[in-house]
This record gives sequence, structure tokens and C-alpha cells, in this order.
Amino acid sequence: MRFAHRWIIGITCLILVWLLHFVCWDLVELFDVQKSTTAAPIELLWWSHHFSFVYDEVRQCGAFECRVTNKRQRLSSARAVLFYGTALKTGDFPMPRSPQHLWALLHEESPRNVIYAPFDDFLQHFNFTSTFSRYSDQPITTQWLPSAHDLISMDYTMSFDFKSSNLNGPSPSVVFLNSDCDTMSGREDYMKELMRHINVDSFGSCLRNKDLPASLQNDYLNNLYSPKLLRFLSRYKFMIAIENAVCEDYITEKFWRPLVVGVIPIYFGSPSIKDWQPQKKSAIFVSDFPNAAALGRYIMELSENKTEYDSFRGHKLNRSHPIQNEKLLHHLITYPHQTREYDFFETFECAVCKYATHSGPIKRANARHYNCPLVPIYAPLESKKEPERATDWRSAMEVGQCQARILDTFFRSNKPYNEADFEAELNRRMDDNRCSIDPKLH
Ligand SMILES: *[C@@H]1O[C@H](CO)[C@@H](O)[C@H](O)[C@H]1NC(C)=O
Ligand SMILES: *[C@@H]1O[C@H](CO)[C@@H](O)[C@H](O)[C@H]1NC(C)=O
Ligand SMILES: *[C@@H]1O[C@H](CO)[C@@H](O)[C@H](O)[C@H]1NC(C)=O
Repeated sequence: MRFAHRWIIGITCLILVWLLHFVCWDLVELFDVQKSTTAAPIELLWWSHHFSFVYDEVRQCGAFECRVTNKRQRLSSARAVLFYGTALKTGDFPMPRSPQHLWALLHEESPRNVIYAPFDDFLQHFNFTSTFSRYSDQPITTQWLPSAHDLISMDYTMSFDFKSSNLNGPSPSVVFLNSDCDTMSGREDYMKELMRHINVDSFGSCLRNKDLPASLQNDYLNNLYSPKLLRFLSRYKFMIAIENAVCEDYITEKFWRPLVVGVIPIYFGSPSIKDWQPQKKSAIFVSDFPNAAALGRYIMELSENKTEYDSFRGHKLNRSHPIQNEKLLHHLITYPHQTREYDFFETFECAVCKYATHSGPIKRANARHYNCPLVPIYAPLESKKEPERATDWRSAMEVGQCQARILDTFFRSNKPYNEADFEAELNRRMDDNRCSIDPKLH
């Protein structure tokens, strides 16, 4: 009797679950229909002309969905307008700006490309940013590191003894591979001094004293991580890693590539670079030395001491704890750049899609979102003189500041204007000397 009782309860439960399943299914369907009829996806409009093709598609970003296009006629229905830093034009912003328009900026380059970008007057008009700065809304600080795995992989790592056996004659084994010879950081001036103290193999068009193997000559600028190039670089003990401009967190392949191939970077660039090393001591920092002579002496010493040399390569040689920097680990895990499928533009679109879907409190970017000093900083020179081009770069930044202020005025007046209007205003201010040095910058 008791057994039959249980059996009845069991059957009843099964039937109930079965009925519930239908009810739930209907509810889910009903909800889906309602969602698709009432909520058209939020629209994002690329204002910059960095794609030559027309682009209009629905993008699925996890639980969020947005329509992303570069058809300018969709401006009135766009929730967010997207700008790509390198393609910005002073005379080409969507004016008048409607109050519903969020502006979002993706900019991974140093200020030399867009000289007004570092200024608050300009940045404050954006609601969302993705830059190298850790303070931007979607930081891409480690964008130039292919993957966390590359950082610890032994694929290209040569032993100290192998590197030493490869040398003809006395040399600390330093490689320099740069082709931009007019930098805000004074790279070429510093290298001229360093190369008076130690042998450096320079293969780029700056201060070249050797030719790359023929198989590498054409492609080394487009294919920064080609296996052939990595193998070539990995024989060296040190690699010069001086950025073309000094900004907080502006870190390019110059830092990561030597780390990937087990070569010690000689770094100058982001003042807070030590925050991003895989271990406490993974690179040599130009700013730790008073001048190139002192740095040269240190490199000579280090190039002959195996124990000391290898102590810089813990990310390769300590198999149980290769990355000991929590901040770097956290960043590599949190931000999805380090995957093969990573698409620079799509990742940004999705970040803006999520942001635009939850319209939270009012948000404006500021100078920290693109953290560059307003007066260029350069590597310490022995001669105590400034780099040759220092004055030119300072004036360039002054013009940048002037441009940022004009844009600020135009954006606030919120009326349409064009490039000619912008140029006329710039010329007016230059003639009146209103673009000259701002004492606040000194
Ligand atoms: C090499 O460096 C180590 C420290 O890593 C030091 O103890 C040792 O004396 C150095 N050897 C020489 C020959 O300078
Ligand atoms: C690897 O790093 C850990 C943590 O710092 C340390 O305890 C250990 O001794 C290191 N191992 C080697 C082989 O250097
Ligand atoms: C977006 O930025 C503009 C310009 O700074 C500002 O006026 C507006 O209130 C911001 N909107 C939101 C939703 O944060």
C-alpha cells in the first residue's frame, strides 16, 4: 500500500514537471517576441573613415546586441558615435551634437599622430575611451603583447652561453632596429651617445651600421612578430626599446618583443613601465642611469655575467613562477586582447555597446584617459643639451593645445563648421600669438 502511494506521488510529480515545461516554453517564446518587436538594437555609428567599405551589421556582444555601421546618414538614430584616433580630422565632427549622442574614442597611438589628443579641452567631450592608459574605460595597455603564453614560452629563448658563442670579437651584443628617426623622446640623440660607448648593431634606417639578412629586409616593419625575425633577434643579449614618445602606459612591441624572445630590453618610454614587468627585474631602464656612458658600462658588465644576466629572465627560466606581477596577470586575464581571434575594432564596438546599453551617470573623459605629458620628455643626454628636434616638438604641442582649445569652443557652440572655419580660427589665434607657450605647461 505504501509503495503504491509513493508511486502515485512520483507519477504526479513527473506530470507536473512535464506541464510546467510547456508553460515555461511559452513564456520564453512570448518574451522573445516582445523583445524583438519592442527593442530594436542600439545603434553605434563609426564617424571616422578608416574603413574603405560600407559597414552595417548587428553585433552580438555576449548578452548585448548592437547595430554597428559607418553610414553617416544613420547619425540621427545613433546612440553612440565612434571615432578612431588616427583617422580624426579637425574639421570633421558630427555637429550639431544631439544630447543623446555618446562620443567614444579608440586611440592606440602616441600623440605624434594627433597632436591635440592629450589635452583636456579635447578629451572632455568624449564619454568613453579606449587607449593605452590604464585609466581609460577600456585599457589596451598590453595590446602589443601577442599573448601571455608568448611571454613565458621558451620557443625563441637562447642560453647565455649560446649568445656568447655567437659573437665575433668583444661586444655586449646589443640590437637596435628602428626606422623612425625623428621622435618626441629624442631616441636618435640618445642612441648616438650610447653608440659612442658600446657596440650596437643597428639595422633600421636610424643610425644603420649593418644590413638585415635579405629575407627580413622588406617585411620587418609590417610583421613585427614573424618567426624569422624573432629567431634573428633572439641571438642578442640586449635590445634597445626606446618608445617614440613618453606617455604613461604607452608600451609597444619595443618592450614586449625582446621579453618574448628572451632578450633583455633596454627601455625608455612609459614612466611607470615597472608596473608591467613580468617579474621585479625584467628589463634595464634608461632612466635609472645618469647618462649613456653609465648605462654602457653597466651593459658591458652584465653581458659577461651569466648569473646576473639570467636573473633578468625569470619569466623564461623560472618554470614554476614565470609571471610574478599580479597586476600584469590580472590585466592579461581581464582584457581579451591576447587571443588569436581578437579583433581590435570589434572589441571596442562591444565595449561601447555595453556602455551605451546601460546609460549610467554622466561620464566625461579627461587627460588621464590619454596620459601624456604636455611637454615632451626625452632620454637624459650626456651633453646636457636638448635633443636636436626638442624645440620643434614643443612648438608642435603648443599648436596641439591651440587646436584642442578651438575644438572645445566649436563643440560648445554646437554649430556646424568645416575644415576651412577651423583653419581660419587657428590662423587667427596664431597671428594674435594666442597659441604661444602656456606658462602652466612649464
Ligand atoms: C656576477 O653577478 C653575481 C650576482 O648576480 C655576483 O654575485 C658575482 O660576483 C658576479 N660575478 C662577477 C665575475 O662579477
Ligand atoms: C621561482 O620563483 C619563486 C617565487 O619567487 C621562488 O621561490 C623560486 O625559488 C624560483 N625558482 C627558481 C628556480 O628560481
Ligand atoms: C557625454 O559627454 C558630453 C560632453 O562632455 C556631456 O555633455 C554629456 O552629458 C555626456 N553624456 C553622458 C550620458 O555621460
